[in-house]
Amino acid sequence: LGVDVHLVAIADPQRHMADDAHRRYGFARSEENWKAIAANPDIDLVSVAVPDAFHREIVEGMAAAGKHVLCEKPLAAAVEDAEAMVDAVERAGVIGAVSHEWRRIPAVSNIRWHINNGALGDLLHFHGRFFADYGLIAENRLSWRFSGPPGSGVVSDVGSHLIDLAEYLCGPLARIHGALLTGVDAAAAKNEDMAFFSCSFRSGTIGSFALSRMAKGQPIGLGFDVYGTAGAASFDLSRPAEFYLLSAAAPLGASGTRILVGLSDPSVHGGAPSGGGAGLGHGLSDYFVIQARAFLEQVVGRSGLTPCVSFREELRTVQAMDAVVRSAGGGGKSIGFADVAGPARAGDD
Ligand SMILES: NC(=O)c1ccc[n+]([C@@H]2O[C@H](COP(=O)([O-])OP(=O)(O)OC[C@H]3O[C@@H](n4cnc5c(N)ncnc54)[C@H](O)[C@@H]3O)[C@@H](O)[C@H]2O)c1
Repeated sequence: LGVDVHLVAIADPQRHMADDAHRRYGFARSEENWKAIAANPDIDLVSVAVPDAFHREIVEGMAAAGKHVLCEKPLAAAVEDAEAMVDAVERAGVIGAVSHEWRRIPAVSNIRWHINNGALGDLLHFHGRFFADYGLIAENRLSWRFSGPPGSGVVSDVGSHLIDLAEYLCGPLARIHGALLTGVDAAAAKNEDMAFFSCSFRSGTIGSFALSRMAKGQPIGLGFDVYGTAGAASFDLSRPAEFYLLSAAAPLGASGTRILVGLSDPSVHGGAPSGGGAGLGHGLSDYFVIQARAFLEQVVGRSGLTPCVSFREELRTVQAMDAVVRSAGGGGKSIGFADVAGPARAGDD
């Protein structure tokens, strides 16, 4: 990077959590209040990794103090909060980036490369699933993730990632259709445990999404298939270093070719310190490391990795989540959402 990076301070209102992170990760100090971070002139950039409901206040405070912000997903649950946060970083002239580390999976970027280079022809259909099992654990259901309004359950928690991935691969969404949100035990969770919906992308491609936090045997069951007029691609997170590609040359009835990718994949551009050749394998921590490096590169003005998802791009994900809730509330009716003005999504090239 050409600059020294120092972990200056970590804040958490639970003192023992702040102290624990301070010790484990080597921050120079720990604080109880995020305002001490905002007021510290030695800090140039921050990561906001607190429960969703606190994102807006902290992001606005950090932006006003001139800090670049990497905020956890989803930026906000409500469109108006996300709009205010876009406004806050743009007014302050700081970088507002959102943590969608699943985009950093080399196989995902590699599939995107094949899509953009025409290997799949015109895209017809995206099908994505993000299944998890944490809702089956009774004590988890006491957390803030289970207590908000419709849309703040599985749609927000893992659906935001899948919507982001779908747009990364297939371009901007235009409409959400036929949403169904459903919970398993209303006494123990106020919001949805499962969600199903379809969509139209602006290009005319259609999509279908399945989300659950009640999927036994699926701790993190992320996967998707993309079908085009000429080819298809398929990815499953349980085998993160590979994907299947069926190209135009394959005869009808053929199955895909298994392609191994590693952290040395050109889409990663050496973003992971360990490198790693095709098939060596990698995991979630690598995706966060690559994302952190991309954010640092943005802050110091270096080009290299694909930039992080911007606040303005994330606004479209928040709008899509809102459209899912409104579709479900209307018995599955089709809901369009406004395009968000501004630069193309990160990595459009
Ligand atoms: N990108 C991903 O894959 C991913 C994965 C997990 C969580 N998340 C996101 O990260 C965020 C945090 O989720 P979590 O499960 O770690 O939540 P959590 O409930 O474990 O809270 C994280 C910490 O935030 C602290 N906190 C609460 N209010 C605070 C405040 N005002 N100032 C400073 N610290 C505060 C809590 O004390 C806690 O230690 C959420 O937005 C979530 O959606 C993203």
